[in-house]
Amino acid sequence: MAEHTIIGKSVRKVDGIELVTGKAKFTADMKFPGMLYGYELRAGVPAGIIESIDASEALKEPGVHMVLTAKDLLGPNLIGVLPPFDQPVLPDREIRYAGESIALVVADTREGAKRACRNIKAVITPIEPILTMEQALAEDARKIHPQGNVTFSRTLTKGNVEQGFAEADVVIEGSYTTTFQDHCYIEPEIACAVPSGDNRITLYVSCQSPFHIRGHVAANLNVPASKVKVVQAYTGGSFGGKDDAAVEIGILAGTAALKLGRPVTIAHEREESIAGTNVRHAAEIAYKTGARKDGTITARQVKVLLDGGAYASESPFVTMKAMIHASGPYAIDHIEVESTSVYTNKTYAGAFRGFGVPQVTFASESEIDELAKHLGIDPLELRRKNGLKAGDKTATSQVYDQSVGYLQTLDAVEPSLRETGTKENDGRYLYGTGIASVIQGISNGAEGVDVVGASVQMSQDASVLVGCGLAEMGQGSRTVFSQIAAEVLGIPVDWVTVRQVDTDAVHDSGPTVASRSTTVGGMAVKQAAETVRQSLVKMASLMFKTDESMIVLKEGFAVLTVDDTARIPLRDVATAAYWTGFPLMHLAFSQAEPADFDHDTHQGRVYIAYNFGTHLMHVKVDRYTGEVEVLKHVASHDVGKVVNPMAASGQVEGASLIGFALGHMEKVEYKDGIIQNPTFADYAFPSIRDRIPTETIFVEDPTPHGPYGAKGIGEPPVAAAAAAFANAVSQAVGHRFTHIPITREDIAAVLQEEV
Ligand code: MTE
Ligand code: MOS
Repeated sequence: MAEHTIIGKSVRKVDGIELVTGKAKFTADMKFPGMLYGYELRAGVPAGIIESIDASEALKEPGVHMVLTAKDLLGPNLIGVLPPFDQPVLPDREIRYAGESIALVVADTREGAKRACRNIKAVITPIEPILTMEQALAEDARKIHPQGNVTFSRTLTKGNVEQGFAEADVVIEGSYTTTFQDHCYIEPEIACAVPSGDNRITLYVSCQSPFHIRGHVAANLNVPASKVKVVQAYTGGSFGGKDDAAVEIGILAGTAALKLGRPVTIAHEREESIAGTNVRHAAEIAYKTGARKDGTITARQVKVLLDGGAYASESPFVTMKAMIHASGPYAIDHIEVESTSVYTNKTYAGAFRGFGVPQVTFASESEIDELAKHLGIDPLELRRKNGLKAGDKTATSQVYDQSVGYLQTLDAVEPSLRETGTKENDGRYLYGTGIASVIQGISNGAEGVDVVGASVQMSQDASVLVGCGLAEMGQGSRTVFSQIAAEVLGIPVDWVTVRQVDTDAVHDSGPTVASRSTTVGGMAVKQAAETVRQSLVKMASLMFKTDESMIVLKEGFAVLTVDDTARIPLRDVATAAYWTGFPLMHLAFSQAEPADFDHDTHQGRVYIAYNFGTHLMHVKVDRYTGEVEVLKHVASHDVGKVVNPMAASGQVEGASLIGFALGHMEKVEYKDGIIQNPTFADYAFPSIRDRIPTETIFVEDPTPHGPYGAKGIGEPPVAAAAAAFANAVSQAVGHRFTHIPITREDIAAVLQEEV
């Protein structure tokens, strides 16, 4: 194996200092002369018809500059992720969820705008809301959208499940449900639009897909995309959530800014973030699994229903992802998965760390444990027996001949399982250990674009500027890109700067989703750096008057392979290359091999790679109160190659905590279509005190499609942690919970029944 000097090292976050010292500029820190503030008036009823909106009183208030409603918008008033777009920026007639904005007030201050909202007279005729998927799918149901209430539906067919069930000795069935979860990023959605003198408009936005925003803002301002510049400000977390939300407020702020000729900022309050913008899909999932006595799984049949709320948003992708991943990291000959997302009159659901995989993984892994119980086989052995290996066919019949490190993740947690699995219950406390595995496709693959453009530009002093269209939102992509560029060019990490995304200056690289930055983005950075490296090596060979093969770049020098003391500083090489006319900048594209996917059966090549993982959770349950303590959490993932152990473990910890919270505490609660807990006072989510003791064990089975073999790790632990928690608690309590979150109250209720 090649020796690396920077790859594989725990380099400190390159933007860490400015973040922890408060120097980093978030959108709320952007102040421009004459800046105004917008506040959105929200519907307040889950379904209704807007009869009229009278803003005359609000406009009389001092400091109020404008009230925007649908009729004032400049463009098609349509947004979404996939055409045909179904979501208005502001509805002109029909209201489809209670948190939907129906008007924007722009005033000197945010408080003023908020106050003025109360004086807008919106006459809305409520209509009977459709609040459950069952209601939405009823034959005579009112149509929330003209095309009906099914947002997107697909079926994956591998082999023949009837045959698979016929071959089985046991067939078990289960139904599982999950609830809505909010992203709870520390910084709610915010956008600031600034008209510039050159007939352009600049948006400073907290976001994760700046080009997606540029496209939608331009279309809805009715200007060419090149007239809009989107600058991604430091982003206080996104987790999938700011893809859509930033588009909505970007358009509103942009429209107001253009009309008034002044900068306009719209910053959401927490309540707006929870009730107004996307959440994780709630799901109802039915599994049927057949197996032989020896544990071989012969067939799985799955029906997934996803509650997508009022608009499609990313439902199509979530539906696809749930479908592709529902059968788990197992080699099964016969699989059928029907996956459907449904419109209801609730806050729309979109992308959220894991993208449909956590829901199905919880259900799938619960059922695998149930199967193990039925067959009298150890849950880990059952997984091992069926686990995917290199050369096996995945659910879509794709075969990977490398980077299928699933079984090693089982090996990694096994010692902890043997150690904790024997813990005896004592009077008040019940102990349980659960494991759960995950498979998660990396990058978009057959779901969408898989190209990333990245530029590497070296200055004459040998410092480097990297530009990429993928956004840093806390996950550490700037650090990873810095490490890759530094490794290739033989320079220290702190000679590299990864610029913030500015759509004027970097190439559109598609959305920053699906844990793709390290893999596909990193590959582009590596390729661009390698081209710059060629110029340096060529220049150094001229300077040394020797062959290019005799040159290595390291520690900021060009060095002769045969004599480590023969060194020329890279700044001299770079300066010489500049004067000689050797290019010191390159824009490279990493293009994944094209997916080859049958969109009827959903068989074929989908993703460039999968991340595999197994988590173990060991819990202690208080018999009297239902309180759970996670005593041990081991998370093992095959990440191909660890680029930065500290950062990668941090991702595992953070994602696991979100998974744990999905499994144990978080739920958006509705009553009559209105969210009851849209604040951090009422919405239970983990604080630092709820941190679980995550121990990470990485498996490195490299993929040819990632830089140095690396695969993404940002999302997969969510699913495994939620599922492992459910299995651990179910084991401790001796009761199969088929719903997440399994709250303390749920546990107490079950234990009380038993008394
Ligand atoms: N980590 C932090 N700190 N903040 C975030 O917003 N988003 C997650 C994950 N980790 C997120 C995060 C999500 S949803 C994704 S898809 C990946 O990071 C994207 O980053 P990557 O492509 O670098 O893996
Ligand atoms: Mo992540 S949900 O793919 O943005």
